[in-house]
Parts: sequence; structure tokens; C-alpha cells
Amino acid sequence: MATLPAHSTPFTHFVACPSTDAYVRTSEPWSQPREAEIDKTFLDAMKVRHSVFIVEQKVPLECELDEDDPRSCHWVAHMSDGGANTSAMSQQAVGTIRVVPYPQVPHPVPGAAYTIANGVNVIKGRWVIKAEAGKDGETSKVPPPPPTYTTPQSQLEFVPASPDAVEDEGEDRATSLHDGKEPYVKLGRIAVLSYFRGFRLGQYLVQTTLDWIKANPTFFDEHDPEAAAATAKTKFNGLVCVHAQVHALRFYTRLGFVVDEGMGTWWEEGIPHIGMFLRLDLNKKE
Ligand SMILES: CC(C)(COP(=O)(O)OP(=O)(O)OC[C@H]1O[C@@H](n2cnc3c(N)ncnc32)[C@H](O)[C@@H]1OP(=O)(O)O)[C@@H](O)C(=O)NCCC(=O)NCCS
Repeated sequence: MATLPAHSTPFTHFVACPSTDAYVRTSEPWSQPREAEIDKTFLDAMKVRHSVFIVEQKVPLECELDEDDPRSCHWVAHMSDGGANTSAMSQQAVGTIRVVPYPQVPHPVPGAAYTIANGVNVIKGRWVIKAEAGKDGETSKVPPPPPTYTTPQSQLEFVPASPDAVEDEGEDRATSLHDGKEPYVKLGRIAVLSYFRGFRLGQYLVQTTLDWIKANPTFFDEHDPEAAAATAKTKFNGLVCVHAQVHALRFYTRLGFVVDEGMGTWWEEGIPHIGMFLRLDLNKKE
């Protein structure tokens, strides 16, 4: 593992629940027509996310901003060169992460393939194990078991959702590590510019958010009491979730997250994801 040069220290900027009203989802963050009305830290977050998710991972531009952005807290990591230098380079945003508060949408459907349309998750279809699929993409009467993240892509077949399929927006289901009811926060959109990877910036960003959650466990209740009270039947008790891209499993495991086998595997913009949870001890002050 590489380490940052001794004189380079990361520091973060923070913004809570930025308005996204002026943000045009179909324009790049560098060419927002109403840039002056957009929070600078949020715009920096979108620049990093654009470089990583849109350019590198080929997620469609219009899918990046979603309905969770204006209700989330965002952090942006910058690099300092340790001196009085305030050059553009030392001010560069190099990483970002967000914390999405409860209420959360129900857990993803195992095997489902999602896309974001107008900021909201929509099921495009689902992946099934090839041998279980019938002719012409029709599934057999017995539903096939959903594929897991260890199923090779070559064994999968895509079955498009019927256009009139209605998504279940009802109560959440219980998984291995979540009872379907307890309020939890979700870390997401973590991204570090490729040139700066491997320097533990990702770890630093996650740790920064975990420390913040521990120090501010009632933040979201106070920020939007109505939303919190509407769904949270019990108090927030330090439960943190990530919807992890499968390749980042080791990254999160190192930080203490555990795979929720019951949540299954699903695909977002073609990228396989799994659910992982971490329980913060809110009484333990470090
Ligand atoms: C995931 C990501 C944020 C990690 O950032 P980073 O600054 O490079 O991570 P760190 O330097 O803190 O890595 C810490 C550990 O995680 C491992 N790790 C990081 N990214 C990994 C990846 N993509 N696959 C496997 N292991 C990874 C590192 O090897 C290191 O472990 P090690 O010490 O055992 O080698 C970065 O790779 C990234 O932006 N990826 C593209 C966007 C993405 O996939 N985001 C995750 C969405 S869930």
C-alpha cells in the first residue's frame, strides 16, 4: 500500500443537504448554466463523481444526480501540500462520499437491474441464471434462484421487465443483518480520482463520515424531524449500510463492514452490487 508523501495531508470540505434545484442533471458539472447558485462543495463532489462514475465507469450522465443528493451530507477531500501554496493543484478535489439519511427506500430486489430515471431508481429487468431461463427470455414457472455476486457473468441471462411492471414501494423486507425496520444511514457515491488511489484516501473518507456519524447521531432527526419521525419507529442506533460495488468488497471489509447475504446481489447501471453493514457503538467515544 502506497502512502501519501509526508508533506501531503488530506482535508475535507463538508456540506449538509445542499439544494440541487439549480443543478442541471444533463449538463457536466463544469458547465452548469446556474453554477453561481450551486454550493461549491457539492459542485466539487459532482466533479469527482463525474470523472469516476461517468467517464471511468460509463454510467450515463443523467443518472448521476439522484433524489438522495439534496437530503444527504457530502464530504469532499482535497490535498494540501503543507505549505502556503494555494495553487489550483493543491486545491483540487480528489475524493468524495455522501451519507444518505433514513428513511431509505426498500432494499434492492435480488437479481434486479436498476437504472436511474429522473433521479429515481427504476427496474429495467433482472438477471437470471441461464439454465433456468426458458425460450425467448421467458422464465419458467418456478422462479430461478437469484444470482449472487459469485455467479460468473457468462452464466447470466437478462430478462427485461415488462413495461407495465409496478414496483413495490411498500414496507421493507428483513435481511440477514437488518430487521427491515431499524433506521440506518447509507454511505454512498464514494469516489477517489484514479491518480490518487491507493493512498488510503478512500479509507480516510469513510472514517471521516463514521466519526461524524458517531459525533452527530441525531443530526438527521434534527434536520428533518418530519421525515425521520414518519418512518423511524426506533431511535438511530449506529447502523450504517453500504451498497458496495462487488470489486470494492475488500475495501469495505477492511473498514469493518460485513456482507449481508440476505440482501443478495443486484445491478446498478450494469455494475453488480451487494449490501454490507457496520454497527457503530454510539456510546463509545474515541
Ligand atoms: C473504492 C475507492 C474509493 C477506494 O479508494 P482508495 O483511496 O484507492 O482506497 P484506499 O487507498 O483507502 O484503500 C484501502 C484498501 O482497500 C483496497 N481497495 C481499494 N479499492 C479497491 C478496489 N477497487 N478493489 C479491491 N480493493 C480495493 C486497497 O487495496 C486497500 O487495501 P490493502 O491495504 O489491503 O491493499 C476507489 O478505488 C474508487 O474511487 N473506485 C472507483 C469508484 C468506486 O468503485 N466506488 C465504490 C463504489 S461502492
